[in-house]
Amino acid sequence: MTASGDFPASHDLDALFAAASAVRARAHAPYSGFAVGAALLDDAGRIHAGCNVENAAYPVGTCAEAGAIAAMIASGGRRIRAILITADSPAPVTPCGACRQRIREFAGPDTPILAAGPAGLRARFTFEALLPASFGPDHLPEHIVDAK
Ligand code: THU
Repeated sequence: MTASGDFPASHDLDALFAAASAVRARAHAPYSGFAVGAALLDDAGRIHAGCNVENAAYPVGTCAEAGAIAAMIASGGRRIRAILITADSPAPVTPCGACRQRIREFAGPDTPILAAGPAGLRARFTFEALLPASFGPDHLPEHIVDAK
């Protein structure tokens, strides 16, 4: 299932694209040469952005989505209403498997996952389309989870 075009509103979409593009330009990606920017809209209507940060110890690098989520949590946001990822790639960029799970913690099945490139939006997905039947907080016993 692809996400419908009426959410986020065009002004939020424009702001997500601008924020993700701005941080992508500051990515630290000297090893892959693949700069990525991510921006998300939180439950308070605020936008948080992150870029990929690679490391000479390659597995220690972090994805753009992880940075955007960390920024949201650090500023008090708790839900992802939409997330946009941008990169200059042959096919529209989608979150890696690990980042799909990171997004899962704060999103719902219908949350739009938007793929952009330098020229603008390229593709829309719902979260459910990218990570069906996903594991999440509801799978854990009640006594473990106070985030429910
Ligand atoms: N990357 C992201 O930051 N987000 C994605 O959605 C795809 C991949 C980064 C990880 C690594 O720094 C580089 O892109 C190449 O995989």
